[in-house]
Amino acid sequence: MTDEKLFIPILLGTNRKDRASEKVAALIAAHIDKNREDIETVIVDVRDFAFPIDNYGQDIKGQFPQWKETMMDADGLIIVTPEYNHGYPGPLKSVLDLLHHTEYGNKVVGFAGVSAGPWGGARVIENLLPVVRELKLSAIRTDLLFPFAQKGVENEGTEERIDGFLTDLSFVGKSLKWGRKNIT
Ligand SMILES: Cc1cc2nc3c(=O)[nH]c(=O)nc-3n(C[C@H](O)[C@H](O)[C@H](O)COP(=O)(O)O)c2cc1C
Repeated sequence: MTDEKLFIPILLGTNRKDRASEKVAALIAAHIDKNREDIETVIVDVRDFAFPIDNYGQDIKGQFPQWKETMMDADGLIIVTPEYNHGYPGPLKSVLDLLHHTEYGNKVVGFAGVSAGPWGGARVIENLLPVVRELKLSAIRTDLLFPFAQKGVENEGTEERIDGFLTDLSFVGKSLKWGRKNIT
C-alpha cells in the first residue's frame, strides 16, 4: 500500500444563489485541511465554467484546461451534489461530461448529498451512480448526507461522519493508486 498523499478535489455541483452545498464543500475541505494528513484537496466550483451554448462534452474540454489538469493530477473526486427534483443539477453533469476515462479512469469517487427534505440527497446520489460508473470512477459505499440543509449543515456527529467517509475514500483511493501504478 502506498503512503503517498492523495489529491482528491471537491466538485461543488451547483451554481444556485445561496447554495447550502457551498457550506458543505467548505466543511469537508476544512476537515481535510485540519485533520487528514493523507489527503490534499481543492474546491472546484461549477460556477467557474462558462459553457458555450452551441457545443458540449469532450469536444469542448480544450476550453477548460485547468479542469483537465486537475483531474489528471487527482487520485479521485468528492462530488457535492444538491438534490433537484430527485436528480442532479445540469451544471454538475456538464462539468463531469467534459472528461472521460483518460482523466477519471480507475480513480475513487465519494458523494455528499444536500437536500431541503429529510433524505439528505440519497436519491440524487443513486441517480449519479450510473453516471460515474460509465466514467470509470469507482464509488465508495459511504455517503455523506445533509438533510434539512437550509437549517444548517453542521450537526452533532458531522465531523465524525466526514472523517469516516474520508477513511473509506482514502482506502479505496490508495488501493486504486497502487493499481494504476503497478498493474498494467
Ligand atoms: C430545482 C430545485 C429542485 C429541488 N428539488 C428537491 C427535491 O427533490 N428534494 C429535496 O429534498 N429538495 C429539493 N430542492 C431543495 C434543495 O435540495 C435545497 O436547495 C438544498 O438546500 C440543497 O441545494 P442548494 O445547494 O441549492 O442549497 C430543490 C431545489 C431546487 C432549486
